[in-house]
Amino acid sequence: MARLIVRGGEPLRGKVRVNGAKNAVLPMMAAAVLTRSECLIRDVPDIRDVRVMIEILKDLGVKVRLERINGRRYLSLKAEHIRTDAVNARLMKKMRSSVLLIGPLLARLASARMTYPGGCAIGPRPVDMHLAGFEAMGATVVEKGGQVTAYAGRGALSGAEIHLEYPSVGATENLMMAAAGARGVTRIWNPAREPEVDNLAAFLQAMGANITGTGSDVISVEGSDVLGGADCGVIPDRIEAGTYAIAAVITGGEITLENVRTEHLRAFLAKMNEVGTEVQAGRDQLWIKGPERPRAADIRTLPYPGYPTDLQNQYLALSCIAGGTSVITESIFENRFKVAEELARMGASIHTEGRLAVVKGVEQLSGACVEADDDLRGGASLVLAGLRADGATVVRGAEYIDRGYMNLVGRLRGLGADVTRNDD
Ligand code: UD1
Repeated sequence: MARLIVRGGEPLRGKVRVNGAKNAVLPMMAAAVLTRSECLIRDVPDIRDVRVMIEILKDLGVKVRLERINGRRYLSLKAEHIRTDAVNARLMKKMRSSVLLIGPLLARLASARMTYPGGCAIGPRPVDMHLAGFEAMGATVVEKGGQVTAYAGRGALSGAEIHLEYPSVGATENLMMAAAGARGVTRIWNPAREPEVDNLAAFLQAMGANITGTGSDVISVEGSDVLGGADCGVIPDRIEAGTYAIAAVITGGEITLENVRTEHLRAFLAKMNEVGTEVQAGRDQLWIKGPERPRAADIRTLPYPGYPTDLQNQYLALSCIAGGTSVITESIFENRFKVAEELARMGASIHTEGRLAVVKGVEQLSGACVEADDDLRGGASLVLAGLRADGATVVRGAEYIDRGYMNLVGRLRGLGADVTRNDD
């Protein structure tokens, strides 16, 4: 098990370039299954979830090449022949986002099979809305013994009117991909409005699909049976940007983030202002200067453009040392305060009850041995807390952090942090 050793105290200073977004690249990779032609994805982050998705795609028969051209990472995917309609069960358990292959497989092969997906341990995270959407498009879905099989009626999916009970990111994306390869027009009402959905739409459009309405109350997708290759870039990772911003704020440092889209971070930056951070936005840069001690402020996670749940745990770490009491409401996932127990080992005062965490800021945290325990964002928040703690913090289970952060250690060191990694 890999460990990160963080010695706190240094205010972070310098520049860091934000990578392509994990939550944008994964659905785009799945979408490549819709066509026999080659798809190129630019600015692909080298993170563990991308590597798992590559393995899954190869297992399906997709030809995958990862290249570096002029310092940028390109992923070439060619799904000329697909070997099976079943997503590899072992790999599926490693990553919940593999469920995103069901829509494209169903559109391409008229059938798809999977076991129930894995991923972070943050609540049950069902996929019922994905499956109901496929059924609305004419698929038959059979669930038996942890296995799901979906067949398209009469050999192909048909366009449909789909109303999502909740603006699920994954369901919106899965249904958009299925609809891109279906006969006729599909309208998805109450879709997710996250920027990653828009990025996927751009990719599908580059493949020849006709999609309108992303970011609005209804997305309309006109299906096509001649989807072609595409070449599309990945948007900057707003969650990675927010994590480094909190690293600066928690240490009272001053950093510049490069390759950011400020408009994707509005709710987050409003909170950073509220706790006393100075923020200046340039064209694709963001300058952040943390206060000596942040003020307490409450947050509530919400679907985009609200405060993102994927930056909740990092904010929880920040509130541990804020002046005053913060109330954090997690409205997206049922069980996303698991890391509170680990933060408590470092001297944090957190009381959780269901979807609420009440955090009384303390003057100082102290280094301790803590566990990332199957929790990507929780793991990152422990590193952030370690940056502000007295003495050494050992974060065990660093491979969970690798799922979504590329070279976290090297980049934090580049900002002056004292962090090392031990892979024994
Ligand atoms: C995506 C992101 C994840 C982020 C989340 C919310 C990716 C790869 N992952 O996950 O990082 O935290 O959005 O912004 O993009 N739900 C159902 N039934 C469904 C689908 C979802 O009840 O069929 C529930 C989930 O249990 C959860 C909520 O809806 O409570 C939000 O889930 P969803 O928006 O689907 O998140 P993901 O797509 O899984």
